[in-house]
Amino acid sequence: MTTTSEQRAQDPATLRAVMVSELREDTITSEAVAAAFSVVPRHLFAPGEPLEAVYDSNTPLVTKSGPDGTALSSVSAAHIQAVMLEQAEIEPGMRVLEIGSGGYNAALIAELVGPDGSVTSVDIDPEIVARARACLQAAGYERVRVVQADAEHGVPEHAPYDRIIVTVGAWDIPLAWIDQLSERGRVVVPLRFAGLSRCVAFDRSGTGLVSRSYCLGGFVPMQGEGTFSETLVPINGEATLRLDGPDPGFDVPALRKAIHGPRIERWSGAAFDLPDELELFVVTSVPQVPFLYASQNLVDQGVFTPAVTYGAAVLVEGGSFAYRTKRENEDLGGWESGVFAYGPHAEAVAERYVGLLRRWAADYRRRGAARIEYIPTRAGKAAPAGWYAAKRHGVVAVSWR
Ligand SMILES: C[S@@+](CC[C@H](N)C(=O)[O-])C[C@H]1O[C@@H](n2cnc3c(N)ncnc32)[C@H](O)[C@@H]1O
Repeated sequence: MTTTSEQRAQDPATLRAVMVSELREDTITSEAVAAAFSVVPRHLFAPGEPLEAVYDSNTPLVTKSGPDGTALSSVSAAHIQAVMLEQAEIEPGMRVLEIGSGGYNAALIAELVGPDGSVTSVDIDPEIVARARACLQAAGYERVRVVQADAEHGVPEHAPYDRIIVTVGAWDIPLAWIDQLSERGRVVVPLRFAGLSRCVAFDRSGTGLVSRSYCLGGFVPMQGEGTFSETLVPINGEATLRLDGPDPGFDVPALRKAIHGPRIERWSGAAFDLPDELELFVVTSVPQVPFLYASQNLVDQGVFTPAVTYGAAVLVEGGSFAYRTKRENEDLGGWESGVFAYGPHAEAVAERYVGLLRRWAADYRRRGAARIEYIPTRAGKAAPAGWYAAKRHGVVAVSWR
């Protein structure tokens, strides 16, 4: 019997090989991670899903949604799983805790630690625990332990862990995670700070943690004791400021007026690229930078650029504000960064923002220039000199090098 190209396209092994070669192009750098993705049958962790979606490296497979449609659980996109596994640098024989279960990622970890290692996966949701256990069993990974608990307290009964891989959006780092790490331990966590989420690989450093690498990446939100709600400050029916901390007392009537007033644009003369790195620099250079979200209607009216519908980091000073934009600039060989500013002090706030854009371009325009630290409050240290965000159990401090 001959195999047609259509049959081959539907064959999980063929689709998996294509996915792995795509991941090798931009994400996977280690042979061990490539080997794990090559052998674990991802489709067995997403029964009933179309194979093309299962083996599309950028597609998460939602397994549970809340009443408002928010995703509560998913088998994460293979791309982000690969990124985090590379960050984790898991070695054979390690003990690993995965926070947030879907089954597939735990199976990949089981391949990486091999028969001498151990994998514990914890999820708060009993349905997800049952689902993950059933999928792991069907795929032959019964050795992965799946525990139902709120991961705020870690899983002390199987600690210490050489790696803790958090696959749910965290706003803080519970002390239990640090306490349950071994001496050579590392936590890889999609951490929310300053309104942004970054997957940070933290190594132990004294009583706290220091970043080894970080990259863009967000996950479904944490439930249980670690739940976090952001602050929303509506400006009018169509524009809202969103921030992590409390409302510092924005002058809403003045900002409302500014939105429909004249706007100025100022250009930095500096190159614009690596937007995620630049954004991290902006929000960690000034205290309490909120994100502005506006309706499509305001974009259609030309009040804001389309990027604002996804949220733009804004500098706010009284009733004036500015946000970042870009234009093509042949002399720079690509894009130039600049700002749009509104309000009675538009000139001053634009100048301040442009100053940040120039400083980033001159000193930090590369990947990985930020150093992110987690300093637990119990360490009793004074607040850091530079930028930091206060959390429940400590502070996230960011400096640039
Ligand atoms: C994106 S899914 C996990 C994906 C999974 N690791 C995979 O293989 O793709 C996130 C999971 O975190 C779980 N979760 C949310 N808050 C939690 C908490 N406080 N403790 C443990 N699990 C939690 C959710 O129930 C959800 O199943």
